[in-house]
Amino acid sequence: MLFPRSRMRRLRIHPAVRELVEETHWAPRDLIWPLFVRRGEGVAEPVPSLPGVFHLSVDRLLDEVKEAKELGILAVLLFGLPSEKDERGSEAYDPDGTVQQAVRALKEAFPDVAVFTDVCLCAYTSHGHCGVLNGSLVDNDATLKVLAQVALSHAKAGADFVAPSDMMDGRVDAIRRRLDEENFRNVGIMSYAAKYASAFYGPFREAAQSAPQFGDRRSYQMNPANAREAVSEIEKDVREGADIVMVKPALPYLDVIRAARERFHVPIAAYSVSGEYAMLKAAAANGWLDERRTMFEMLTCIKRAGADILITYFAKDAARALREGAG
Ligand code: PBG
Repeated sequence: MLFPRSRMRRLRIHPAVRELVEETHWAPRDLIWPLFVRRGEGVAEPVPSLPGVFHLSVDRLLDEVKEAKELGILAVLLFGLPSEKDERGSEAYDPDGTVQQAVRALKEAFPDVAVFTDVCLCAYTSHGHCGVLNGSLVDNDATLKVLAQVALSHAKAGADFVAPSDMMDGRVDAIRRRLDEENFRNVGIMSYAAKYASAFYGPFREAAQSAPQFGDRRSYQMNPANAREAVSEIEKDVREGADIVMVKPALPYLDVIRAARERFHVPIAAYSVSGEYAMLKAAAANGWLDERRTMFEMLTCIKRAGADILITYFAKDAARALREGAG
């Protein structure tokens, strides 16, 4: 049908009709809220590069998660800030580490909230790389053992899902085996499967104090120029046993999310990273963008590209906006 018989605008005139023909929906239950945990009590230290994001002590974390739950957010992703760093990142698998304590407290207070934990060494190593070094290079196979130990310590604390973000080859297999050997068969793995060496992680590295002390992460994270390679990465992780796969960052990588959606039947998570959040916060603070509408559009578009799960620092704002009908 062509104009004048066809008029696309007929579907856009009445607001209720617009809603009827809306193709993409999302709800608070699709969100995972990333949170940073540190030691102490009563601490909520703002992260300058991420307005609205805080380093929280466990007690304050519980307050935040309670609020999030009331808004319908039922999943969190935890990052820990260690008190000490060393060559091997050994605090990452300390049974009494910050993340492990936070997981125990959360599972006790809110058993209905799904707790995901980031599994990586970069915040815990003195050199800031995501694994154990051999010379100036991260030693892949030596790192796998440490990662499996970190994942196991999170599982023992009660984590529902572990989320390896290191980009070592074979880590999903190593973690799955270790968890199964120790009888944590129901603990899931959400792998950062297609994780790019992105400048958009800048504000996070300030938040997690995890910037590499020399060099960069290009010998393990993916080249932003590559999309076919993402399909190989995801395929390997799925075959190794990943239950959920992630694409990260989200907004500049919608084609990768779409490609993953078309090829795989596992749930796909998209991590809208710190730089995506900071860009919008900065523009909104200057009055250059409408924060709510832009946030809503960003998340809707990531969902439209094919993500099932949205990981975003905007989680609480987004849930509030939905409640108030700001879409
Ligand atoms: C740890 C990790 C990073 C992010 C999540 N896990 C940083 C990195 O790889 O340098 C980035 C998250 C964000 O920017 O919001 N490896």
